[in-house]
Amino acid sequence: MTEGSPADPAALERRLAEIERDAAAALQGASSPDAKQEARYRYLGRKGELSQVLRSVAGLSEADRRRIGALGNQVKERLEALVDAGETGAAVATQALDPTLPGIPIPLGTLHPLTRMTDEVCRIFRSLGFGVADGPEIETAEYNFDRLNTKEGHPSRDPRDTFYISQLRASASDPVLLLRTHTSPVQIRTLLQGRLPVRIIVPGRVFRRDQVDATHSPVFHQVEGLYVDEGVSLAHLKGVFASFARQAFGASATVRLRPSYFPFTEPSVELDVSCVFCAQRGCSICKQEGWIELLGAGMVHPNVLAGAGVDAARYTGFAFGMGIERLTMLRYGINEIRHFYENDIRFLKSVGR
Ligand code: PHE
Repeated sequence: MTEGSPADPAALERRLAEIERDAAAALQGASSPDAKQEARYRYLGRKGELSQVLRSVAGLSEADRRRIGALGNQVKERLEALVDAGETGAAVATQALDPTLPGIPIPLGTLHPLTRMTDEVCRIFRSLGFGVADGPEIETAEYNFDRLNTKEGHPSRDPRDTFYISQLRASASDPVLLLRTHTSPVQIRTLLQGRLPVRIIVPGRVFRRDQVDATHSPVFHQVEGLYVDEGVSLAHLKGVFASFARQAFGASATVRLRPSYFPFTEPSVELDVSCVFCAQRGCSICKQEGWIELLGAGMVHPNVLAGAGVDAARYTGFAFGMGIERLTMLRYGINEIRHFYENDIRFLKSVGR
């Protein structure tokens, strides 16, 4: 016993209650961390008021010692909890919650601009009666080239332009495999299913050995289109894209066709859309032309139709292949394809907002 007076359990109990009340007031009322520490030493420190009470239980009976000891420890725990509670904890305990304070925003993800553009193209073509198909990214040279009337020796078959996958071939008689250079092989796969008429679009990833620059990437995306039926003509192609251009670029957008060449279409065309940046007055983006090239297209070559088991005397069709990156860049005035692959959230969020 440190104090001279004999211990009275009831007095000690009252003393504990007093200490708890005073200490709680001192801790909660502390105006600074220093003041809080001071109150802590005074009531909870090794030589503090609570310790003194707990030491004085030594003179009590075993039962009282246990009881007062336990009470003292509970008081100590409650007070320590007040010390631990930070400034806000103390404030919340004593002040009303303000529900008008702004919340903490949770960052939300967004779909990638290329995904959103692809979704929109699919929506527009669905509204025009097209279905959505797909095909493999690893193709055979037969589907990617031969059946598309692209003969041996055509420059696009050069290994400097196309990624061949020779490792997967066990012997020279196995099919030549490659990463598809366009989505056109899906035309063949669809026609070979033998159900006509066909009206599909095919979004997908394609691969070419291109040097990366502001408008080229070795991996990019296309949407193929194919419409085969009796009596399909270039006029249908133009009509479909007149509607597409209005929906994708606004009510005043128009299209025109220019002659071109692809092995798998005859005749072949490039389709231009009226420049959306200068309303056709001429600007740097359309190079003062008033028109911007959007895609390659044409009437499916009779060799391609016949090779896929279609009666080319009875059926005709148009096909097109459109770059999704290019479309997205035109639509939103983006001048750098690499933005799409760098995953800078500031760019990804800004497109189309
Ligand atoms: N496959 C061609 C390309 O990748 C585009 C195209 C598709 C052209 C269909 C005509 C018809 O450039």
